[in-house]
Amino acid sequence: MSSTELIQRESSDNILTLRINRPDKKNALNLAMYQGLADGLRQADGDDTVRVILICGTDDCFTSGNDLADFLGAPPTGADSPVMQFLFAISEARKPVVAAVNGLAVGVGVTMLLHCDLAYAGNSATFQMPFVNLGLCPEAGSTLLLPRIMGHQRAAELLLLGEAFNAGKAHGLGIVTEVCPDGDVQAYARQKALQLASQPAAAVRLAKSLLKRDCTPQLRETIIEEGRQFVARLKSPEAAEALQAFMQRRKPDFSKFN
Ligand code: COA
Repeated sequence: MSSTELIQRESSDNILTLRINRPDKKNALNLAMYQGLADGLRQADGDDTVRVILICGTDDCFTSGNDLADFLGAPPTGADSPVMQFLFAISEARKPVVAAVNGLAVGVGVTMLLHCDLAYAGNSATFQMPFVNLGLCPEAGSTLLLPRIMGHQRAAELLLLGEAFNAGKAHGLGIVTEVCPDGDVQAYARQKALQLASQPAAAVRLAKSLLKRDCTPQLRETIIEEGRQFVARLKSPEAAEALQAFMQRRKPDFSKFN
């Protein structure tokens, strides 16, 4: 599939929809896909015909997060990498971003929601941030935003244990706005995006920027620092064991590392 098929863009009714479309790999995000998302978000910010960005996956999967093979074969290198471009673009988007989550949201599939203004999940959606489980560290500004949203202990539970949790818990913790029946989530998110698009656009942009004013400078700094640590962790023996274990479909063994 070409990169334009992997991230499908559709613009209508003042809404730019970015659809993550790599179902055979559970919508895992490779470099071209991060670039496609970053380009779409940046283009939307400069295009007067776009008032809202809607991000969704396929019918039964949002995204399984970063492509784990890329962590080994094409790791992110620095601020110019497609991953970082995407994180800057979504965290600094001036226009409202809405997400529709069906099925799985793993890793960046969860942390990107922290930058969305509205996020809707199907009732059987599952969420997981297994960065530590992979010998890595949290990313996308999540170490700043999660404790702000839910307090240290609840953020620590999600990030240090890295267990999967359901849509009800995601809603209770403030990661998603609302939970809907699975079959309705994309239509419902679009309806909310249409409602946002009919609001006065300049007032919406201003309210969004004021809502984020408190953490904006720190957020970029945090994304950069987490990114630096993340790249270093990719070379750690713990990450090597975790990634090999995933490829070999076995449980990782971290007992020999201190
Ligand atoms: N990167 C690369 N490939 C991935 C992937 C990822 N993040 N997630 C899934 N895939 C691939 C699998 O390797 C498999 O490919 P194959 O058919 O060529 O063997 C295919 O997608 C289907 O995945 P599978 O594991 O068989 O589906 P499942 O329903 O049993 O499990 C997940 C789905 C998402 C729970 C499981 O694939 C998983 O844990 N993936 C890794 C998630 C992750 O750690 N993401 C990074 C967070 S930082």
